[in-house]
Amino acid sequence: MKKNNVLEVINLTHSYKEKRKEKLVFKDLSFSVGKGEILSIIGKSGCGKSTMLKIIAGFLTPTSGKIIVNGEEHKKPTKNVMYLQQNYEQLFAWKNVLKNIAYSIEQLDLDEEEIKKRANYYTELVELNEYKEAFPNTLSGGQKQRVAFARALAIEPDLILMDEPFAALDASTRDKLQESTKRIIKEKQQTVLFVSHNIKEAQFMGDRILVFGKNEESDFKYYFIENPQDKDKEEIKNLL
Ligand SMILES: Nc1ncnc2c1ncn2[C@@H]1O[C@H](COP(=O)(O)OP(=O)(O)OP(=O)(O)O)[C@@H](O)[C@H]1O
Ligand SMILES: [Mg+2]
Repeated sequence: MKKNNVLEVINLTHSYKEKRKEKLVFKDLSFSVGKGEILSIIGKSGCGKSTMLKIIAGFLTPTSGKIIVNGEEHKKPTKNVMYLQQNYEQLFAWKNVLKNIAYSIEQLDLDEEEIKKRANYYTELVELNEYKEAFPNTLSGGQKQRVAFARALAIEPDLILMDEPFAALDASTRDKLQESTKRIIKEKQQTVLFVSHNIKEAQFMGDRILVFGKNEESDFKYYFIENPQDKDKEEIKNLL
């Protein structure tokens, strides 16, 4: 194990039981992610990206294999690993923006003053200063996404798992959010797994890309692409 690895996924295999049959989703998948690294993950719909994030988050027990976060096995949900679901409707409808963000920090052992300071800091970091009092039903998709991101960041977890966070947004909002999200992640040296079905987005966001390749029968192929921004999009597409 490299000393600064935040995440290690070791020989991960998972199958769902479907009508008494086992459905193998992935097999013997291993990789690690260093501190401050963004690993993009792409693969065809149904290849197991969300399943893998749920296992890493501790919501789902794998058939076999291990998840290590900062040297310790991660088997149950903890505040060390924040999971942003694929569907971003995950805010509390009855809490305003600031209170949604403060909620996560309230789980930590901090005094009230510190909670307030941190909630304000992260609200401002995602540029929602003017929306502190707003309720989720009055926000745009991109704004809701930023609240969810700020709430995850505010806990200052070891790892954030983002599952197609920008998929439902229009192109220009998406471009802006990619840029600002990447800048914040890098500024904070946050470690992130970023699932996308958009190759260009995965190239822009990731320091590396993990590709869930074509899966023929039980032959599973995984590829790791270094320096994805220098690669040709078609070259990556051919792996899918
Ligand atoms: N709870 C479940 N029970 C049984 N099968 C499941 C369950 N959740 C997912 N699956 C199956 O496992 C496979 C992987 O699903 P998963 O949601 O991980 O795919 P994905 O790569 O995230 O797809 P998408 O890009 O569409 O979000 C799919 O074939 C899906 O039908
Ligand atoms: Mg998914």
